[in-house]
Amino acid sequence: MIELSVSKLNKRFGGLHVLKDVSFDIKGPELIGLIGPNGAGKTTLTNVLDGAIKPNSGTVYLNNQRIDQLEPFQVAKAGLGRTFQVTRSFRRMSVLENLYVPALALGTEHSKAEIHEKSMEVLEFLTMEHLRNEYAQALSGGQQKLLELGRLLMLNPQVIILDEPFAGVHPSLMKIIYSYIERVNDQGTAIILISHQMDSIFSLCHRLLVLNYGDMIADGPPEEIKRDPAVIEAYLGIDEDEEDEKEGQA
Ligand SMILES: Nc1ncnc2c1ncn2[C@@H]1O[C@H](COP(=O)(O)OP(=O)(O)OP(=O)(O)O)[C@@H](O)[C@H]1O
Ligand SMILES: [Mg+2]
Repeated sequence: MIELSVSKLNKRFGGLHVLKDVSFDIKGPELIGLIGPNGAGKTTLTNVLDGAIKPNSGTVYLNNQRIDQLEPFQVAKAGLGRTFQVTRSFRRMSVLENLYVPALALGTEHSKAEIHEKSMEVLEFLTMEHLRNEYAQALSGGQQKLLELGRLLMLNPQVIILDEPFAGVHPSLMKIIYSYIERVNDQGTAIILISHQMDSIFSLCHRLLVLNYGDMIADGPPEEIKRDPAVIEAYLGIDEDEEDEKEGQA
């Protein structure tokens, strides 16, 4: 059973208090949206969860193992991985070599042949076998996002955080990325999806977390979040249905 427990995280950059007592739990393979305005702290929260930056206070436990003081490679080994808002592949290495890296770098007990086999499985899953010998830098924006997802899948993660997987992606690839997110989740991985694409967030996620300049102002099902006055004011803006109703009454 996957269990991520985030408790009272604070992060300050000098005088800027970017995460304020942020707490939430994930139990099981949930698909959760993390939304909020630009600068709300979503990427900072991701950086804290994956070990890239250390919180000033608070704790993160993954399956009863404390991970908030670990380095990113240790967090990845513990079962939590993330993609980057601006993709970070090894541009001058092939797609296949990019997939080898996490397994080799973490010094897993798997042989090179096993790592190759797993990489081919991941490429097949993402229907990217035909791209295996391409340099990563030759891929489109959307394909780079898929490669990052593939890199995560190499380690059989329990929780993954996808930081804006649809940003800068051609609309034709967006649907494909969307379907892979669903499939990865169906296979038992918990997912935190960060996106400003509200259509995708509302249709994919069964639960939303709303961060507003460091404060977690809401945590609940999308239908509830859509109607939450604090969320509407902070991020979603005027509810269009409500506006239509008002216009109808006028
Ligand atoms: N390393 C850093 N040093 C100083 N300030 C930082 C650092 N990283 C982030 N910030 C600040 O923290 C705040 C939150 O930024 P963050 O990138 O986490 O927001 P976000 O919710 O991911 O926004 P977006 O939707 O635009 O991606 C911003 O004011 C940002 O300028
Ligand atoms: Mg961000």
